[in-house]
Amino acid sequence: MIPTSVRWIADAVGHLEILDQTLLPARCEWLACRDVPAVVEAIRSLRVRGAPAIGIAGGYGLVVAAGEAVRDRLDAVRGRAHVLARAEEIATARPTAVNLRWAVERCLRVIDALPPETAPIGLATTLLAEARAIHDEDRRLCDAIGRNGSAILPAGGVLTHCNTGALATGGAGTALAVITAAWDSGRRFEVFADETRPLFQGARLTAWELVQRGIPVTVLCDSAAAHLLATGRVAACIVGADRITANGDTANKIGTYGLAILAHAHGVPFFVAAPSSTFDLSLDTGAEIPIEERSAGEVLRPLGVAAAPDGAAAFNPAFDVTPARLISGIVTEHGVIEPVCRERILAVVAGVPNGSSPAG
Ligand code: MRU
Repeated sequence: MIPTSVRWIADAVGHLEILDQTLLPARCEWLACRDVPAVVEAIRSLRVRGAPAIGIAGGYGLVVAAGEAVRDRLDAVRGRAHVLARAEEIATARPTAVNLRWAVERCLRVIDALPPETAPIGLATTLLAEARAIHDEDRRLCDAIGRNGSAILPAGGVLTHCNTGALATGGAGTALAVITAAWDSGRRFEVFADETRPLFQGARLTAWELVQRGIPVTVLCDSAAAHLLATGRVAACIVGADRITANGDTANKIGTYGLAILAHAHGVPFFVAAPSSTFDLSLDTGAEIPIEERSAGEVLRPLGVAAAPDGAAAFNPAFDVTPARLISGIVTEHGVIEPVCRERILAVVAGVPNGSSPAG
């Protein structure tokens, strides 16, 4: 069974529930988010995480904001101002994955189109329809990414990093959907998951998803990847993305860049899988992507256990940027971008013939 990361409960003045990923794999518990601070906290603490999933949670977060305005009996003008202010809090909860701001802005556009006298309940109803549309679309995009990617995966073992499955999206996942689609088509191969320090998304979440699905998985320390690649047991690496710029540079979980260099050094193809909502064509190169820095405690006290002495400092960027030249192909819902260059990205993602100029 494919797990779900978020769900909406009841009608437009209902609430958001999040499968608390910080508790996995030990416990499977749903967390009710009835106000915007709870939604923001869940996103910041990685209770819900993964670029598409935080976009979906952000969309539902706006419904929660409109619900607050209904409960506080705000009039149309104040209700709208309240939603707009809350929208900014949600959009900035995490800076790197562009899907979050993308989803919030998409929801704001639908309420922009409503008459100014629309009461908060009207905003909530319209926002819920849009948030559900984003969620449903993501499910379909994941299936398309799985289909498109499984066709390009060479025979042999696959190595992935972080978690890019159902927990990170609204459907079957991105990179993990490619792996599971290939497996479901009858192909058999070894699946390797980097543990993904410091928060262990690979060990805790990817391995959990694969075990749930009955797909054998081998977890390795991030530092074992070079040796694994040297053994020849890996035919391809495939990872997700948090933001891809116009030239194909890709931000993803910290450690991805190192893995791409290792794959290149060993002549192993390195693929990225992401929906078009992860592309930020307003940025030219990866140097412009904001990289989230997280707390020292995540590094110094992994899983709550002291791993370094008191007094030590920590460097804890949550993401890094892999240059386009190290990426063999980007799997999207529209097809595979290969080679990874500005022209192909514009053609596939923005539908610009020959990538001549950005779509309007
Ligand atoms: O910090 P996280 O766990 O939200 O980081 C997630 C990743 O880096 C994923 O690889 C990325 O969001 C793609 S998810 C389909």
